[in-house]
Parts: sequence; C-alpha cells; structure tokens
Amino acid sequence: MNNNNILILGIESSCDDTSAAVLRNGILLSNITAGQKVHEAYGGVVPELASRAHQQNIIPVVDQAIQQAGIRKEELSAVAFTRGPGLLGSLLVGTSFAKGFATALNIPMVDVNHLQAHVLAHFIQQNEGDNDQPEFPFLCLLVSGGNSQIILVRAYNDMEVVGQTIDDAAGEAFDKCAKVMGLPYPGGPVIDRLAKDGNPQAFVLSKPHIPGYNYSFSGLKTSFLYLLRDRMKENSNFIEENKADLCACLQATIIDILMDKLRKAAKDLNVNEVAVAGGVSANSGLRQAFEEHAGKLCWNIHIPPFAFTTDNAAMVAMSGYFKYLHREFCSMEATPFSRVMV
Ligand code: KG4
Repeated sequence: MNNNNILILGIESSCDDTSAAVLRNGILLSNITAGQKVHEAYGGVVPELASRAHQQNIIPVVDQAIQQAGIRKEELSAVAFTRGPGLLGSLLVGTSFAKGFATALNIPMVDVNHLQAHVLAHFIQQNEGDNDQPEFPFLCLLVSGGNSQIILVRAYNDMEVVGQTIDDAAGEAFDKCAKVMGLPYPGGPVIDRLAKDGNPQAFVLSKPHIPGYNYSFSGLKTSFLYLLRDRMKENSNFIEENKADLCACLQATIIDILMDKLRKAAKDLNVNEVAVAGGVSANSGLRQAFEEHAGKLCWNIHIPPFAFTTDNAAMVAMSGYFKYLHREFCSMEATPFSRVMV
C-alpha cells in the first residue's frame, strides 16, 4: 500500500449528527455534518427518530464530503466509521453504510471508538504546516453530554481513563439544570450565553467531595433544584429575575469541579500537556479557565476549534488514519457497541 497519499473517508453517526469527512494524510479536505432538529420538540434525542434521520442524511452527506474534498470516491484508501459507544440504531446506519461502501470500492474498513476519536481530534491538521498537536503523553479532559473523563493519552492507541464521573456527565448537568429553568435543549450553549451577564458569586452551590480524580454532578444538580424551589416559594418570578446570575453560578461551579480534579491529576502524574475535548469544550468559561491555567501553571494547552468540539466525522477520519498507518483494519463481521470505556 502507498503511504504517501492516504485518503480516509470518516463516518460518524453515534448520536444525532450525521457526519462525513475526508482527510488526505491527516490534513482535512472536508467535514460535512447534518444535525437533526426533530429532537428539539422532545427536549432530548429520541433514538428511533435519530436512526431514521441518519438513514435519510447519510448518502447526501457522504456525497457532499467527497465533492467538497475534490476527489473521486475510487481514490479513497479506506473508510473509517464510529463503531461505538452511542445509540445502537444510529450506529447501525453508519456501520452498514461503511460495509456497503467498502465492499463496493474494495477498500479496507477501520472501526473507531467515538470517545478516542474526540481525543484524537487534536491531531487533525486543518492545513499543511498546522503543527499545534499535543505531545504524548498528555492529559485530555473529555466532557460531553454522555461522558466526563480525565484520560492519560500515551499514544494514539494507548489511553487510560484515570478519572470519570460516577453519575451524571458535565453536559448532562448543564442540560438538566437548563431544563428546570425552562431553557431550551441543549441547555449548555444557552447557559454559556446567559452566564456572560451574570455574577458567578451570587449563589453558592454544592461541590462534591469524592476521592481520586473521579467526578460527580448529581449533588450539584440537586442543590441547584433546591435553591430554585426554596427561592420560588418567596418569589414566583425568582428564575426569571435571576436567570443570568443562576447561569453564571452554575457554569462557574461546573468549571471549578472539572478543573480541580484536572489540576490534581496533572500535578500527581507530572504532565503539563493538557487538552480538552467533547461538546462542553465549546464552553467559553471552560476555555478561559484553560487559558488561566496555562498562564499560572505553565500548561501547554490544546483547545479544539469549535467544529471539532461536537460530534464530527473529521475526528473519526483522523482516528482511522492512525489505525490505517498500522494496518489495523476490521472485518465485515464487526457490529456496533452501545457502551464502552476508552
Ligand atoms: O460531545 P457532544 O456534542 O455529544 C454528546 O455527548 O451527546 O456534547 C453535547 C453536550 C450537550 O450536553 C451540550 O449542552 C454541551 O455539550 N454543550 C455545551 C456547550 N456547547 C455544547 N455545554 C456548555 N457550554 C457550551 N457552550
């Protein structure tokens, strides 16, 4: 096989985004994502509707990714697809598509772990000469709607979860607290926007006391709920009148919880190369906290461009590229999995 011109098609369909991307030798040529507005009315992703939407979107999205990359599909070296974790029905659409596509073109298939892909998104080169990639070993804070983990990354295929949430994920805490305030789904970006005009010290919310590098967000959610319940008894307009302050306090507390453990892990493991990934890494407060830590603790920080924070196929193609270089292909019998640790 020729390693000078490796073209990888990536397919991502683990949740509610259908995405396809093309990478040439690790450099991004295209990254197309179709979101699914259908879930907004339900306040969360409806798995059955997600699978159907993937089925509708996948061919046009792949077509567009190949066109925008300016290549012919016959030039592709391999097709990489998200095998899990995620919603099984959604994953089946991407997996089945990848099998059909790889068979038709007679090229290998590479299966990709969605969580590892979020971490490896840091290696995507947006153009030639883009060399801002983390150095191994590095710590990655992976924060999304379904996960909150601190991962020690020793190599593209050697990742150790050193800490993780024992209950809710950070994104879930944003979304659930937003819901009780009557804000639309997903609540994370809305809280981020409203928090900009609020005072993060206006209210005190509880922080967990658990050992090691693990996280917990369920106590914070309950303390937020009790605060609203108690204050609403005195003033039924409490939420409306204090929305910005509530958002600022909630966001600041979530960030404090995340950074406290990350700082501890970085110190104990003696690592100063620190990255953040996943949907919550779009949060402006969290990005600012990373910048401040870089200044104070001399961390080399890696914050992904917004396009690579949420689910995207570029990160899947990137992971596929690493595996392709080591000839780690998967067989046609590969089936998706819904749950796994990195
Ligand atoms: O990685 P991701 O796209 O996929 C899932 O895990 O499903 O993460 C989505 C999560 C949601 O909980 C969303 O509220 C959160 O990321 N999120 C944010 C922001 N943008 C997305 N949370 C806080 N601030 C943001 N700006």
